[in-house]
Amino acid sequence: MIDLTTKINGLSFAFPVFNASGIWCTYEKELIELGESEGGAIVFKSMTIKKRDGNPEPRLFYKNDYSINSMGIPNLGFDYYTKISFSLKKFNKPLIASIAGFKEEEFYFLIEKVNQGAFDGIEVNLSCPNLEGKGIFAYDLKKAFRILKNLREKTKKVLGVKLPPYFDRGEIEVIAQELVRLKIDFVTLINSYPLGCAIDYQKETMMIKPNLGIGGLGGKLLKPIALAQVVLFNYFSKGKLSIIGVGGVEKGSDILEYLLAGAKAVGVGTGLLKEGPKIFSRLKKELIKILKDKKVNQLSRKIGQLKFLN
Ligand code: DHB
Repeated sequence: MIDLTTKINGLSFAFPVFNASGIWCTYEKELIELGESEGGAIVFKSMTIKKRDGNPEPRLFYKNDYSINSMGIPNLGFDYYTKISFSLKKFNKPLIASIAGFKEEEFYFLIEKVNQGAFDGIEVNLSCPNLEGKGIFAYDLKKAFRILKNLREKTKKVLGVKLPPYFDRGEIEVIAQELVRLKIDFVTLINSYPLGCAIDYQKETMMIKPNLGIGGLGGKLLKPIALAQVVLFNYFSKGKLSIIGVGGVEKGSDILEYLLAGAKAVGVGTGLLKEGPKIFSRLKKELIKILKDKKVNQLSRKIGQLKFLN
């Protein structure tokens, strides 16, 4: 029997592979399907104060290697998710809320509401790329740290932050150390790469409508970028940050790569979109086969064990 369990402070994952926020998690029906699947947790769609229809369609495009989305946070509002969180408890896996404010104060309001739900953890989304004219909170480090410091004081639940990719090591060093200092329980790396697009050369158009057709890039193309962020956050935090790796997980071996790089769990976005929640049982089988072949009986032993060449 291979033990796949990993832990992030108060959260224990029997299988540390689950949906990335945003995918398959907006409606109760989808959340129930995640509960019934082999996925190791249920992460909710980023919730806002008011229900939102999101951006005009088409707003999502995907093919083999990547996806482009500019959804605009369509969601049913915090009230809906907080209420249904109680009925999802029966699946006995961690429930992770995702909160998204448009202004700093909205995060403080949302966390008080989410505190009253049955969630085990809260992921603070500081990295939505699709809010035209609003910028990405996580690129304003001073504001991002202030928000996280205040949120930390407002909740006893496991608290994490979802970040976009950063572009230099010095910045990652500062952020990794500050997240440890602020006692943030986990960091989810990464949200979609903020500026991507796909063009139909036959029709001579963009593939999606909102924001000049430019949206967040996800899928397999994101994996090398996300892995490097995981390696550097793990390195600069000296292994003290719990990391959830997200970006291009479509095979069992991808999971092991993320764990070797330092992640304790992984989120699946584009792969789940393409394959549906049955992807989790395939990933589990593939991972178990790899671990058997390597004669590893405890997955958690591989976390951060990546070797650097010298
Ligand atoms: C959306 C996209 C994101 O990458 C995100 O983090 C939150 C919301 C969206 O457009 O709905």
